[in-house]
Amino acid sequence: MKVYIETYGCQMNEYDSEIVRGILREKAYALVDSAEEADIILLNTCSVRDNADRKVIARVHALRHLNGGAHKKIGLIGCMPTSHRQGLIADGKLPIDFIAGPDSYRRLPSLIEKSIESSDKAFDIRLSRSETYSGVHPFRSGGVNGWIAVMRGCNNFCTFCVVPYTRGRERSRSVDDVVTEARELAAQGCKQITVLGQNVNSYQHDGHDFAYLLDKISEIDGVQRIRFTSPHPKDFPTSLLRVVAENPKVCKHIHLPLQAGNSRVLDLMHRTYDKEDYLALVDKIKRFFPAMVLTTDIIVGFPTETEKEFEDTVDVMQRVEFDSAFIFKYSERKGTLAAKRFPDDVSAVKKTERIVRLNELQKEISLAKNRAHIGQVHAVLIESLRTKKSSSDMQGRTDGNKLVILPRGDAGIGDFVQVRITDASAHVLKGRALST
Ligand code: SAH
Ligand code: SF4
Ligand code: F3S
Repeated sequence: MKVYIETYGCQMNEYDSEIVRGILREKAYALVDSAEEADIILLNTCSVRDNADRKVIARVHALRHLNGGAHKKIGLIGCMPTSHRQGLIADGKLPIDFIAGPDSYRRLPSLIEKSIESSDKAFDIRLSRSETYSGVHPFRSGGVNGWIAVMRGCNNFCTFCVVPYTRGRERSRSVDDVVTEARELAAQGCKQITVLGQNVNSYQHDGHDFAYLLDKISEIDGVQRIRFTSPHPKDFPTSLLRVVAENPKVCKHIHLPLQAGNSRVLDLMHRTYDKEDYLALVDKIKRFFPAMVLTTDIIVGFPTETEKEFEDTVDVMQRVEFDSAFIFKYSERKGTLAAKRFPDDVSAVKKTERIVRLNELQKEISLAKNRAHIGQVHAVLIESLRTKKSSSDMQGRTDGNKLVILPRGDAGIGDFVQVRITDASAHVLKGRALST
């Protein structure tokens, strides 16, 4: 049987698709690169905002209309199954054959078999308190970057967010287990490891915290860069800031989701910090490492957010000067505390005005920050020997995760090249390799 997997959503889903590939290969399924060739199509889905759901629903209908699509088995895995539960198959509107939630992947082979043997829709959406896929070998496509999920789930219950419901409670893997996987990755030629978790810095196992884990991974020869995502601002003890600032293998980039700048809104969101706490943390980070690259996530139009309160988000953006920001319109998610407690009362027009304003502001800040790199030299880890636009250029990333485009030279994928930055836009740096 030939299986094709398409992945939506966050990096955790990318990693989980590798886990699923590992599990299915063990059972002698063949992995193919297109829906056309496949007997079984898996969509690894995201449910974080309404438009993520809608994208997948449209895709399922399109897949059914493919040549031969009527006879293929289509399954949804990931966060839509646990977000919508049996409703997804019970209402019969979506032409799918089975669903499996993020903790059910070990049972995927039997779910697939079941759906082949009978026309009943197969499903498993139980969430586990302990599943970390320990012992499963993720099947990776290789490359310079490898992902490792070190914890799964979320206990924070930010009132807007569906993730605690789709992914269940927090659980962490042992340090040994993570280090073993990181060693395997390094042995396969992976230079950079991205440590993943829904709340990665609340990692906790047998008395060991996230700072300890990062240090342990950094002791592995061959691992040259370590990144992590997504952390929560509440879990940045001094010990962790010190490791990020001082361990040369840990990249000098912190993604620090702000969500909103106003303290009343942050309280309604249940973020556990206020505007002052957040700004104090940023100051502390900059004291440890002044050039730290900071990025963020922001939601505009949370229920009851006034124009004046929105100005606090603008104020924080101006003060912090993030290198980049993902900015979203609030999207009400069924089952969340916000959906139960607060009407979605900021109009679509207001949400659009606010997102446009923040995107324009961020673009100016990103451009100024990027232009400040002109003339500097950065170590760039080459990721691709072409760019979206050109096969005579190549691209890679700086320690601070900035994309750099440079003329193709002798360097290969996975090489570090010293690059002098010569030009910059809001999204990318351009440069030339220094001759060695
Ligand atoms: N666990 C991570 C990522 C969560 S989802 C974290 O805590 O940072 C990624 C981002 O999506 C969030 O940071 C938030 O900005 C956004 N998001 C989550 N739920 C949303 C919703 N209901 N509407 C709009 N944006 C949302
Ligand atoms: Fe969602 Fe908040 Fe958990 Fe992040 S920390 S996954 S935003 S509930
Ligand atoms: Fe989406 Fe689930 Fe990730 S909802 S953002 S795929 S944790």
